[in-house]
Amino acid sequence: MPYRAMKESLNAVIDSLSDGILVTDKTGKIILYNRKAEVLLGIKGKTALDQPVQHIGNEVLVELITKTLALDLPYHTEEVCLIDSGDTRLRVHVNPVRNENALLIGSVTLLHDVSRLSAIDKIKTSFLSMVSHQLKSPLSSTLLQTSILLDGIVGELNEKQRDLLQKVRNRIKGMVDLIHDILDVCFVEEGGYLKQIEHLDVAEILKRTVELIQPQAQDKNIALHVKIEDNLPVISGNRSSVEAMFINLISNAIKYTPPGGKVNVEMGENAQNIQLEVSDTGIGVEDVDFPRIFDKFYRVRSDLTKNISGTGLGLSIVKSVVDTHYGTINVESKVGEGTTFTVLLPAK
Ligand SMILES: Nc1ncnc2c1ncn2[C@@H]1O[C@H](COP(=O)(O)OP(=O)(O)O)[C@@H](O)[C@H]1O
Ligand SMILES: [Mg+2]
Repeated sequence: MPYRAMKESLNAVIDSLSDGILVTDKTGKIILYNRKAEVLLGIKGKTALDQPVQHIGNEVLVELITKTLALDLPYHTEEVCLIDSGDTRLRVHVNPVRNENALLIGSVTLLHDVSRLSAIDKIKTSFLSMVSHQLKSPLSSTLLQTSILLDGIVGELNEKQRDLLQKVRNRIKGMVDLIHDILDVCFVEEGGYLKQIEHLDVAEILKRTVELIQPQAQDKNIALHVKIEDNLPVISGNRSSVEAMFINLISNAIKYTPPGGKVNVEMGENAQNIQLEVSDTGIGVEDVDFPRIFDKFYRVRSDLTKNISGTGLGLSIVKSVVDTHYGTINVESKVGEGTTFTVLLPAK
């Protein structure tokens, strides 16, 4: 086939793809894109050809492409990058293009429309949220009733009855915890935090959270120390999300530290950020588990953790809250010595 005809059919093939394709040279100049990319990115005809990638005016995409070109990684792919342009949601993969000598000559971007999937996902979240709300009240009142029975207020129980009822209460407590965690996850996924953003005095929120958790530490004979710098700047964020983040980090530290241990909570300022450090002298996390502890429902399974109950949702909530507040979270740990979580949240 003559070269021209081959090029034309290749263009026809690329234009017929259901995903968008955008190719740049190594300087970031756009050299090729197909019809679907025009539609998805709102480009008029071939007007973006020979323009720098910034021409497409989509910050997230430009950053991804520039990063791929700068890092020159063999297979740099951003798996789930959603670009919000109205109702259209895209998943973007950017890969470096190499010539036969393995030299970087440009980038190729694949744009996959996931709007429908994203809409279905929203329905799933609101369904989950609705069911959890419905379960919350009856479970909470059953928990209260079993506590009343156990307290002996309505009559003494024999040992066997007490033992059974204690088991029932622990089971219900587990379910109530799960419902609360699921509701927190839904709150973030439904974008609830966006509806109520305010200036937050994080020091005050932390103090109140610690007061709330202090009894848990005392019950386990763990020394919970708190140090908060004076006159910290405010941050812009959602109060209940930030509270949930503090509660999860501190209660994890208490939960995964054997009796007699220490938990230290420090808050200060670090280069225009609020820095929160939660460290414990607990069981620690192995390196292999680091990448997974922030996943939903992931719990480390070992002899040390098998008798500790939990949902595996706490750190996923923490991570989502940190992300939605444009912060970062870091974890350092030594097995048998302790763990430190460090959160940075940009000040207002
Ligand atoms: N401070 C900590 N010390 C040791 N392990 C921890 C700590 N915090 C979290 N982990 C580990 O990370 C896992 C996930 O934490 P999380 O999402 O809060 O779930 P949960 O506490 O309900 O198990 C925990 O199961 C635990 O194995
Ligand atoms: Mg937890």
